[in-house]
Amino acid sequence: MRKEVDFLVIGSGIAGLSFALKVADHGKVLVITKDHAEETATKYAQGGIAAVMYSPDTYEKHIQDTLIAGDGLCNENIVRIAITESTERVRELIGWGAEFDKKETGKYDLAREGGHSEYRVLHHKDQTGWEIIRALLHQAQNHPNIEILENHFAIDIITQHHLGTKITRLTKGIKCFGAYILCPDSGKILTVLSKITLLATGGAGNVYHVTTNPDVATGDGIAMVYRAKGLVENMEFVQFHPTSLFNPNERPSFLITEALRGFGAVLTNRMGEEFMQRYDPRKSLAPRDIVARAIDSEMILSGDEYVYLDCTHLEKNSLIDHFPTIYAKCLSIGINITRDRIPVVPAAHYLCGGIKTDEFARTTIENLYASGECASSGLHGANRLASNSLLESAVFSHRASQDALLKIAHLSLCREIPDWNAEGTVLNEETILITQTMRELQSTMTYYVGIVRSNLRLQRALDRLAIIYRETEELYNRSVLTVKICELRNLINVAYLIVKMAQQRKESRGLHYSLDYSGKLEEIKNSRR
Ligand code: FAD
Ligand code: SIN
Repeated sequence: MRKEVDFLVIGSGIAGLSFALKVADHGKVLVITKDHAEETATKYAQGGIAAVMYSPDTYEKHIQDTLIAGDGLCNENIVRIAITESTERVRELIGWGAEFDKKETGKYDLAREGGHSEYRVLHHKDQTGWEIIRALLHQAQNHPNIEILENHFAIDIITQHHLGTKITRLTKGIKCFGAYILCPDSGKILTVLSKITLLATGGAGNVYHVTTNPDVATGDGIAMVYRAKGLVENMEFVQFHPTSLFNPNERPSFLITEALRGFGAVLTNRMGEEFMQRYDPRKSLAPRDIVARAIDSEMILSGDEYVYLDCTHLEKNSLIDHFPTIYAKCLSIGINITRDRIPVVPAAHYLCGGIKTDEFARTTIENLYASGECASSGLHGANRLASNSLLESAVFSHRASQDALLKIAHLSLCREIPDWNAEGTVLNEETILITQTMRELQSTMTYYVGIVRSNLRLQRALDRLAIIYRETEELYNRSVLTVKICELRNLINVAYLIVKMAQQRKESRGLHYSLDYSGKLEEIKNSRR
């Protein structure tokens, strides 16, 4: 089975759909998505999208906040591009139909989150992502040049390797000709030939046991590029959100937005004492790496499984009005947030690193772009500022579209690409081989490569990954492909990259905190022992 298109877009979150809408007037677009089109991390975004809208905020303030959060590793040129284009991109989302909350004055009701020096986060109650995806999907579904294939899984991008050419990490001029796509319903593998391909496959939170990410976040795009010998970077910088709802056995973990702390909620321990002042003068609104590590330290010292977020002192009606989803979710498990404190625990939330891209979202592979959480654009450095990721996706998908439209007329399809060869594979009937390996992977990453790391823990993780890597490659090579085996293989690949890059970073910086290169947090813990 073959399909030929001008633009192949893998992923239907904000990064994929905003790109699709921008190029659709210039050629045939195919959007591939492995679940229902709306099932994306984008849909679950609560807090909002950061953008400079009114004074006293300025681009310079937002730039500085982003650089400070990034702990010296942001690409300043990229930061300046993303922030100075923020207003225009937000206006475009509004033009596509996304509605953000306004005050009675008619001005946007801007929220503030950790690390932001100004109120600048546009939101739609605590359902911002849902509102954005609703608007974008509506536009995409009604565009005659856009076809969306749901429940289709991209296995690998196609390069010269599939024409028999030997490719190594040193090969120059690697080109992307499309992708092989698994249709799980029929079991068939579709060859999609494209002139331009955009990877918008999102993050990889499922490499950890506790995550806010939906099931689709399995790092597929990153693993595909790594296998195709493209450049991947900064994978050690995994952001743990400080406050996910402690509700054992619920997966993914439900997020308690940072905007609630911006609204006045405070973190306390079991005794009801605030503790953040011991870690950072910005207290509960310190950047989230500091807050997550502080919670981790409090939990280790007290032996408790969670801390609390307290909003019981806040005005009841406006609390419910601003955070209806959180109110309803907590109530559904017996917690009335206007009266009861919310038990919270950190959870893997966002991957700052990924496929290396430049200012037009170009990867190191020709005709292949990457945008959104799967990309490492240089915006976040060692730590992402809250609500900068929806913005990053909108900015760099726009820039990718500009670059792609300049190129498309000069590109042609590579029709010599062979179809997928599944010869000699057999149906794997032992699903346990996949589910148990997934559990091993998630527990290895959670306990050895979590919020706090050490050289010894990283080496332990690598040794265990080597075993499950070998076993899974053997299983993959002899099996009729399923989504589950492909996702497991991709997550093992992503885990390996996180651990290897963490080992190479011989310092504690941003989200990578190692006991072997410890700083302030370790001093606090020692002084309390
Ligand atoms: P996604 O929206 O995750 O979309 C990925 C798409 O790729 C999906 O359609 C998926 O099916 C598809 N896909 C993946 N692999 C394959 C494959 N192999 N084949 C086919 N399709 C594939 N950021 C903010 O800026 N503000 C917030 O308030 C905020 N809140 C958040 C709250 C939660 C609970 C979470 C989880 C994240 C939050 N983030 C927030 C982060 C932000 O939502 C994501 O970084 C952003 O939405 C990523 O968008 P994306 O388009 O890159 O990927
Ligand atoms: C949140 O609402 O706390 C999440 C914001 C983000 O991840 O950017």
